[in-house]
Amino acid sequence: ILACFSLLCLTKGVNTFVNGNGLSNYTFPDDFMFGVATAAYQIEGAWNEDGKGESMWDTYLHKHPHYTADQSNGDVAADSYHKYKQDIIMVQSLGVKYYRVSLSWPRLLPHGTDNYINKAGVKYYRKLFEGLLKAKITPVVTLFHWDLPITLMDLGGWTNPKMVDYFEDYAKVAFMLFGDLVKIWTTMNELHQHCLNGYGSNYFVPVLESHGIGEYLCAHYMLLGHARAYHLYDKEFRPKQKGKIGITLDAFWAEPKDSNKKEDHEAAERYLQMHLGLYAHPIYSTEGDYPPMIRERIDNMSQHQGYPRSRLPNFTPEEVEMVRGSSDFFGLNHYTSYLMSPSTMEPTWKVPSTDHDTGVKIEQNPNWPIPGAEWLSVYPPGFRKLLNWITKSYGTKIPIIVTENGVSDFGGLTDFVRVSYYNKYLYQLLLAMHEDGCNVAGYFAWTLMDDFEWTDGYKVKFGLFHVDFESPDKTRTPKLSALNYHEIVRTRRVNF
Ligand code: NOJ
Repeated sequence: ILACFSLLCLTKGVNTFVNGNGLSNYTFPDDFMFGVATAAYQIEGAWNEDGKGESMWDTYLHKHPHYTADQSNGDVAADSYHKYKQDIIMVQSLGVKYYRVSLSWPRLLPHGTDNYINKAGVKYYRKLFEGLLKAKITPVVTLFHWDLPITLMDLGGWTNPKMVDYFEDYAKVAFMLFGDLVKIWTTMNELHQHCLNGYGSNYFVPVLESHGIGEYLCAHYMLLGHARAYHLYDKEFRPKQKGKIGITLDAFWAEPKDSNKKEDHEAAERYLQMHLGLYAHPIYSTEGDYPPMIRERIDNMSQHQGYPRSRLPNFTPEEVEMVRGSSDFFGLNHYTSYLMSPSTMEPTWKVPSTDHDTGVKIEQNPNWPIPGAEWLSVYPPGFRKLLNWITKSYGTKIPIIVTENGVSDFGGLTDFVRVSYYNKYLYQLLLAMHEDGCNVAGYFAWTLMDDFEWTDGYKVKFGLFHVDFESPDKTRTPKLSALNYHEIVRTRRVNF
């Protein structure tokens, strides 16, 4: 279908379908990595097939079916465990050369930690990677995209210091099993969302709600686990396998609510330091460790609240060194922007929370459209500003790879909202590269097809391909945005 669609487009010109300001003069370089991204729990299904263990999302959603907006879960999802060959054809039809997927940890290691490897899981991923390579598509593989084996969650998940070892062991298994086929790894996905929403609050599983404590423990041990996996790869596997390994962080852009107010600028900076710097500074800054401003705030606040020690753990000097520089690229997921101003919360507030530690009031701008998920408002310039903030903070030596960017709506094949979002956001990316000197090496659209969107279930759609979840074979159909993305990749320009 996409081929016919494309043919029509080539004859008529994509502008027939898309309203914009015209084609950009700036272009994406030939070696720019265009791709699409997905994640295991959101598409694979087959939650208990062929010896797979349970992830914490499996267990939690079976116990609490009303947790998601539509009482759904990822038991079947887009059924990619059985339909992966179709997925490969879809990726190929977009013209992109990279496909980012994640491994389901419990599909490979059903018990999470021991030496028992599930052969069916190995077979599945090897077939997927071999199929992609045959189609001349490079797999980009995330080791951990939130679906922790329940066995490890029962031991405290990422609040348990032993997770650092367990993650390294799991990474070793993955490098051994797939390193001949996979040359680009990202260790973990969106530490900030995972830790803050899952351990700090109740928006994601594991719903720990350990405000102001759980998210910092999670951040700390995830960073250490990541660094251990990086060094393991670097020393033991890279010499032979010759690949790259990095991490994927996420950030909203923080826009000062009133651009004339110094305190709003300061609030925006505090927000970025707390939500992105907390994870990025230990890895990408020249000095390493947590951002001094954040260290100081959380230490002071903890003391003030009567804690005998800071709620943010400390790295030893050896750990600072181990984490510093532990990434070959800066994987960035970006979707939306918020307005920032100083919070009016009393500093004597007793109950800890990240927002309180940051001292920021976060609001949506009523003028920025919200086409689907309620947290996602569209503000394209925020993307350019964020890329510049990262460049200013950490330099240009390490390339940024945008490992996710995209928008949700409520469905339909003529998804003009998504077409416009991609065009406008990618135009901002071109400006960041060509006018501001940001070193951006790649871009992955989120996502290949409609999928299980965590707390929102199947209610909102992010896909370039529509999935008919009612149909037994989970029929996939390209949307207008798939065609548009294909044109962007083909022409290396956007109609902004
Ligand atoms: C980022 C997450 O990595 C992905 O799993 C999620 O579906 C998208 N954001 C959209 O919310």
